[in-house]
Amino acid sequence: VVYSVQSTPVPEVDRELPQSITSIEAGTTAGEFWMTKGHQHPDHQGEIYLALHGTGGLLMFDGTETSWIDMVPGTIGYIPPGWAHRSVNVGSDPYKFLAVYPGGAGHDYGWVLEHGMGKRAYAVTDGFELREF
Ligand SMILES: [Fe+2]
Repeated sequence: VVYSVQSTPVPEVDRELPQSITSIEAGTTAGEFWMTKGHQHPDHQGEIYLALHGTGGLLMFDGTETSWIDMVPGTIGYIPPGWAHRSVNVGSDPYKFLAVYPGGAGHDYGWVLEHGMGKRAYAVTDGFELREF
């Protein structure tokens, strides 16, 4: 298991604000840092992440452009409407973050399977680099 998600029992319906804490283990596969699957919100709604532990990154892709936010404890990562998003652990500890999202947002994992995320994070001597993919 590379990552796990604990969610509060808040209904995933309009006007509710479900929250979850995701923990991604530290490691790489073929040089690529471990990450979440990534998803798109079908209704293009925004989301907020707050880094809690470790060193990670918030990778976002709108189908054309890729964006990356370095995430350390206390960093707020804002995901604008319409951007697919994935989290990556680029450190040596588990990377944990809180997510808060509109209950009606939904999670489309197939969008990322079809379109990818534009870039992927690989380990290099002094940390990580993002490579076009
Ligand atoms: Fe999301």
